[in-house]
Amino acid sequence: MEKLAILGGKPAKTNDFPTWPQYDQKEENALMEVLHSGVWWRTPGTKTLEFEGLFAEYHQARHGIACTNGTAALEIVVAGLGIGLGDEVIVPDYTFVASASAVLFAGAMPVFVDIDPHTYGIDPEKAEAAITPRTKAIIAVHVAGHPADLERLGEICRIHNLFLIEDCAHAHGSEWMTRRVGSIGIAGTFSFQASKLMTAGEGGMVITNNDDLAVRLRSVHDCGRMPGRWFYSHYIYGSNYRLSEWQGAVLTQQLKRLDEQAARRSENAAYLNHALAEIGGIRPQSLDPRVTRNGHYCYIFHVNPKAFGGLSTEKFIQAFNAEGIPTQASYPPVHLLDVFQNGEFRKRLSPEVANGPFDFLKADYPVSQDAAENTVWMVHRTLLGDEQDMAEIVEAVRKIQHHHRELINA
Ligand SMILES: Cc1ncc(COP(=O)(O)O)c(C=O)c1O
Repeated sequence: MEKLAILGGKPAKTNDFPTWPQYDQKEENALMEVLHSGVWWRTPGTKTLEFEGLFAEYHQARHGIACTNGTAALEIVVAGLGIGLGDEVIVPDYTFVASASAVLFAGAMPVFVDIDPHTYGIDPEKAEAAITPRTKAIIAVHVAGHPADLERLGEICRIHNLFLIEDCAHAHGSEWMTRRVGSIGIAGTFSFQASKLMTAGEGGMVITNNDDLAVRLRSVHDCGRMPGRWFYSHYIYGSNYRLSEWQGAVLTQQLKRLDEQAARRSENAAYLNHALAEIGGIRPQSLDPRVTRNGHYCYIFHVNPKAFGGLSTEKFIQAFNAEGIPTQASYPPVHLLDVFQNGEFRKRLSPEVANGPFDFLKADYPVSQDAAENTVWMVHRTLLGDEQDMAEIVEAVRKIQHHHRELINA
């Protein structure tokens, strides 16, 4: 077999993958239309309003509130639900910091629990075990587009009278038992940041089917105003989270591409699931049979270092990248982030609870820790490639498997 590229051989990948972001004349026309209209601002505009309606409908939700980014979307939901000082929210330990920082932003404490080793979603049983009288909500993160177990989480939230919030930053168009994600819980949040499945560089969205909550969310995102009331009346605490008309216009066009791109990603992911599972030590993220569509933000697989003679996954990734396959970093466990280890998080909490022991920050999270160390995250543009691209990805992994001893000794 050809020598590894990292050791001077020819890379498995012979040309580059499709680029990201994707756009054409439609985005350009949409931007020019906004430019020439002179209406660049959300409030009197029509473009972001139109996008909110289209995106909500696409996700089978009655309401969509576009906002500045996915972090803001989470902050809006937490505030809109009235979660605040003294409260706790259960959050998976394997996610982007925003799923936890949005809770802290409100003065509430994120309580971390471990994840499922197959789907990387929050482990529902561990979530249930972490419930205390202070718990107000569980945040389910749909990691890499694969919905968390919304059936069991929904049941737990009903029994314990908690809100289920869906962080869908990775999951545009994903489905759980034929229902699109985002409004299976009380509300769902999306990100349109540059790496996401649709993008305007930055951007976010909250969707919900709850009419009363929608009014509060809209108000929180617009300085505490109420729709239809006088411009300088502010009824609740809110901030300015509005999305510009430029972004709304671009995102309407991006949404139109999503189905076609999702179909290609799914087809390629199915091929990789099959081919990579045949290589010893490689375990692709599982597909729960209740997931009827996976948006596939990234393609994740787990590497068992033992099957590679003890090769670290860090070295695996370096060799994989040298073969021409682009990846992005796996998340570190959230409870280990500096803000939680150095005590800074306490400054956000009410004095009654701020000095608590927070023992869960010293606990072990073996699955999250293992996912942090031993998963490979291929960026989603790789899944927009053709058959040859997929074969070259598999070839790159086979090469590393074949030459792992040389790599260890190098
Ligand atoms: C799971 C998750 N939640 C929330 C966010 C926050 O989105 P944004 O970057 O748009 O603020 C991200 C962004 O990467 C994310 O991956």
